[in-house]
Amino acid sequence: MKIDFANLQYQYKLYKEEIDKAMQDVLDRANYIMGDAVKELEENLQSFTGAKHAITCGSGTDALILAMMALDIKPGDEIITTPFTFIATAETIAFLGAVPVFVDIDEKTYNIDPNQIEAKITAKTKAIIPVSLYGQPADMDAIGAIANKHSLKVIIDGAQSFGSTYKGKTDSNLGDISTTSFFPAKPLGCFGDGGAVFTDDDALAQKMKMLRVHGQNKRYHHKYIGMGGRMDTLQCAVVNVKLKHYKNDLALRQEVAAKYTTALQNKELVLPFVDLNATSAWAQYSVRVQNRDALQAKLKEQGIPTAVHYPMPLHLQECFSYLGYKEGDFPIAERVSKEIMSLPMNPYVSDDEIEYICERL
Ligand SMILES: Cc1ncc(COP(=O)(O)O)c(C=O)c1O
Repeated sequence: MKIDFANLQYQYKLYKEEIDKAMQDVLDRANYIMGDAVKELEENLQSFTGAKHAITCGSGTDALILAMMALDIKPGDEIITTPFTFIATAETIAFLGAVPVFVDIDEKTYNIDPNQIEAKITAKTKAIIPVSLYGQPADMDAIGAIANKHSLKVIIDGAQSFGSTYKGKTDSNLGDISTTSFFPAKPLGCFGDGGAVFTDDDALAQKMKMLRVHGQNKRYHHKYIGMGGRMDTLQCAVVNVKLKHYKNDLALRQEVAAKYTTALQNKELVLPFVDLNATSAWAQYSVRVQNRDALQAKLKEQGIPTAVHYPMPLHLQECFSYLGYKEGDFPIAERVSKEIMSLPMNPYVSDDEIEYICERL
């Protein structure tokens, strides 16, 4: 058996007719920048998430930058986040001259541990960026309470979690601003780069719309220093089609995850944990194993691709050496990064494939 990790070709085949038509429509109109499909997608994202404003942008990375720029994050400001995430979460903080301040993760959900946040708050702290890792929102009630108490802003890095919920609300509809990514392998992906920011705040939405187009409020009139951060019309057309099927895709991901969990119950693995308050978009199904490298090699020989999200926590990355962290600072993130391994995950993993993978595991 040869198993595909994200199975993007299969998904394209499934929706080919609709996607080709939507893309052809953009080509026929040649409205490549800020065309009709952009507005259409933003309206569709608003109805799907319940957020008052959805603003598409160039990527999940751009989304984080737009969110922080809108909140006036300045050089020297401190932003609390998790070290166990993709580099973009903390890289964008540093890119703006601000300082990422890491807090260790919860051992079960792998999301930022709210109990350790307050100890890191200083007079310079401006915001908290929880990441909804592997698709599951962090403990948003606890994080929101800390943010309120200390007048901090909350930006959710929801790059992996579009469509997930916390106490019944989508995680695009929590925090001051929430972001997502439409990178192809994300649960809702386009055919290149794309992303979005979400907020209920009219003023922040207006500002992010301007920042996305070089800070302009009127053509060639620039209120803010902004960026070229638009999402292509073509990519919006693709996401518009996929969004129509997304509820079903999420349900299928949920089923795949449940089947993995049942089949792996008695193995010596640490299985994913989803909090009772949350649902996951299951961007990844990640287990913890003791002998990861050897196991990955053996599985690969048998046609089973696996991946590691992520092998090195951010406080130990060379680019952040100037922050002065050292091994041992965040023991849970460090241990999990040595043990974590993601199994093939997409809406179309078949029962036969699940059985094959779990037997070999
Ligand atoms: C947690 C997290 N944040 C941010 C990003 C950045 O998204 P993009 O690749 O669309 O720039 C990613 C994507 O990999 C991510 O996983």
